[in-house]
Amino acid sequence: MGIFRTKSVEDAIATTDEPGHRLKKSLGAWDLTVFGVGVIIGTGIFVLTGEAAGTRAGPAVAISFVVSGIVCALAALCYAEFASTVPVAGSAYTFSYASLGEVVAWIIGWDLILELALGAATVAVGWSSYAADLLDETLGLELPAWLYSSSPSFTSPNLIAAGVIVVLTLVLCVGTKASARVNAVIVGIKLLVVAFVIVAGLFYVKASNYSPFIPPTGAPSASSEPADPALWQDLGLPLGTFGVGGILTAAALVFFAFIGFDIVATAAEETKNPQRDMPRGIFGSLAICTGLYVVVSLIITGMVKYDRISVEAPLAAAFRDVGADLVATLISVGTVVGLLTVMMILMLGQNRVLFAMSRDRLIPGWFSLVNDRTGVPVRITAITGAVVAVVAAFTPISDLAEMVNIGTLFAFVLVSIGVIVLRRTRPDLPRAFRMPLVPVLPIISAVAAFVLMGFLPGQSWVRLGVWMVIGLVVYLAYGYRKSRLAAPAREDAGSSPS
Ligand code: ALA
Repeated sequence: MGIFRTKSVEDAIATTDEPGHRLKKSLGAWDLTVFGVGVIIGTGIFVLTGEAAGTRAGPAVAISFVVSGIVCALAALCYAEFASTVPVAGSAYTFSYASLGEVVAWIIGWDLILELALGAATVAVGWSSYAADLLDETLGLELPAWLYSSSPSFTSPNLIAAGVIVVLTLVLCVGTKASARVNAVIVGIKLLVVAFVIVAGLFYVKASNYSPFIPPTGAPSASSEPADPALWQDLGLPLGTFGVGGILTAAALVFFAFIGFDIVATAAEETKNPQRDMPRGIFGSLAICTGLYVVVSLIITGMVKYDRISVEAPLAAAFRDVGADLVATLISVGTVVGLLTVMMILMLGQNRVLFAMSRDRLIPGWFSLVNDRTGVPVRITAITGAVVAVVAAFTPISDLAEMVNIGTLFAFVLVSIGVIVLRRTRPDLPRAFRMPLVPVLPIISAVAAFVLMGFLPGQSWVRLGVWMVIGLVVYLAYGYRKSRLAAPAREDAGSSPS
């Protein structure tokens, strides 16, 4: 059937050489790892650790990070195999186009908008509250309501959040290599801050705060507002706050802290030696971040009893709690600086996915024109920036982290299945990185991501469903007819009929 037509891997690679639509190959394993760490460490550890520990898991949030990290590592194996076989911009979107067919590729591309554009908007809003807080704490400067609002509306927009997105979009327009340099400096600062938290925090850790390490179900929480029930709970599973169920619901929440390692794969086409560098970049950044998260969460829950932990700015608050105000301010500065790279790379990933979709004509080809001098798809970059800025300015984004998580986990499920399919349909392709134990491990990966999705609220499942239905309508109305694969007779079609 037409909607399941696949683009052959050879065609996918060949389209990257089309004049005017070619991205610069400028990145190595080191750049990729820096990209990964730059986007991974952010709101998740700096903000969500507080909520996860205080309202769901207690000190056992460290275990939640490990659980989430394992789900990501399994998916990372799938991403690494795909990225080293199909080194073309667009990540999960491109992989699935070559294995599962056009409609699945479209669904993933559409789904990635939740992860990337919505993720960037979410982080921008979080960033703006840190920035506002810092100005207030250090300079006593209170921002007027027309400039900043933590619950924005059309009359009181969050222009600070929109403004930071506009500035970062301009940086991205200058070129990928330049962006990577800015990124490297900021990542360095962010890692220093994290290391500082660990070293300084060690002096304030009290063993008594770890007891109980796994608070019993129904234990007192740091927030008066109960967390939304998870889907599994709606379906009758007896999960409450804390206990083992709490560790898993916390894992579904702190999953946000890992979002971004997959974006390393979206830069495959700009990588000098993707076969070697892709797996290194993906695993390098994932391993560094998992280790840091576990240690940081243990430090924070060791400094402050979990039921008194701050759910807004847990790292800074933990130091203020023990009287180390200067350290707290330094952490806030690091957060404000560190979140810049998170937003930038999320948008970069979004641009690459849209670029690939446009090149395949599932969205108009007009979008994917690349600037000759900088090698950047400027139109897409500018449009993504504008849309993210508007969303960040006008949307109250409290539930959005959950939307981002569910969208990303859904992509993991599809990518895991895609690995098995591509092994069957194209066993001949050279695979610089081969995932071990196929099909068992990809099946475990898909099931693990799906189970974690179930620990998110039922409401986010409904929203995901609605978003997907809208996407399918758009595909049937436009992409299905305009796709390159829909016109195999055209010289540039690059198709393989299904
Ligand atoms: N992983 C990124 C963060 O935690 C998206 O902000």
